[in-house]
Amino acid sequence: MTLPHLYILTGASRGMGRAMAEQLVQPGVHLVGISRHADPALAAQAAAQGAALEQWAHDLQDAGPAVRQLQQRLATGGAPWSGATLINNAGMIPAVVPLRDAGDEDTARALRVGLEAAIRLTSAFLGATRGWTVPRRVLNISSGLGRRPMASQSAYCAAKAGMDMFTRCAALDEARLPHGARLCALAPGVIDTGMQQHLRSADAGAFPDRSRFTALRAEHRLLSPQDAAARVLAYLARPDFGAEPVADVRD
Ligand SMILES: NC(=O)c1ccc[n+]([C@@H]2O[C@H](COP(=O)([O-])OP(=O)(O)OC[C@H]3O[C@@H](n4cnc5c(N)ncnc54)[C@H](OP(=O)(O)O)[C@@H]3O)[C@@H](O)[C@H]2O)c1
Repeated sequence: MTLPHLYILTGASRGMGRAMAEQLVQPGVHLVGISRHADPALAAQAAAQGAALEQWAHDLQDAGPAVRQLQQRLATGGAPWSGATLINNAGMIPAVVPLRDAGDEDTARALRVGLEAAIRLTSAFLGATRGWTVPRRVLNISSGLGRRPMASQSAYCAAKAGMDMFTRCAALDEARLPHGARLCALAPGVIDTGMQQHLRSADAGAFPDRSRFTALRAEHRLLSPQDAAARVLAYLARPDFGAEPVADVRD
């Protein structure tokens, strides 16, 4: 009997995360989706496909409960998997304004969801699965905006830059182990989701790059969530996944 592969995916409810969840639910997969709300339609799809699905409702502004549930789940579930993968996909862009105008809670939320939850879940995953000999991977969904600055994007850019750096550091830690996990912070391209809508609807006076995002849509240069998810999952499946701990799916 082939053992299932365990996937843990944050932000499985909307956008590219939802598309990844739809593509992952298939026989041979056990998916744990983490979002603020459970999704009955995804549960129905998983049941129809013969895939195992758990949906955990957590607000990743406070990652503690999700971290503890993950530690407990992995503590009892080490043996029956053919491999285990954590995908930190959840993220948010706060109000698109200069940092001097940003609300403190809004800034904190973007950093907590985009960076703190990702690093804490990665730590919990690597700690709870240490010593497992099956393949383990961590895919952190980053952004080109973690690699180049943009006005009115301080918290989002900082969260993604931080994600790139902790991925690099943890990859060095894991490389010293006989069966260390492989990690990659991957920029997924520009995707037609609510996040892009949020950028296009920003005040042009506060956001000098707004016209760039408007043009991307007008020129049909956005990836559909389904296309983006397929590309990202194909990258995740590459034999050389993790050889570059910071990468771009377009490379
Ligand atoms: N769209 C792009 O062009 C683009 C480009 C580069 C990188 N990315 C990155 O790709 C990833 C997916 O982006 P997307 O465009 O698909 O975004 P999206 O459509 O806005 O979806 C964001 C996901 O994150 C979850 N999330 C947000 N706040 C949360 C919270 N407090 N607790 C738990 N989950 C929360 C959302 O779940 P809820 O339903 O709970 O809100 C949703 O599932 C993000 O990391 C983003 O930074 C996107």
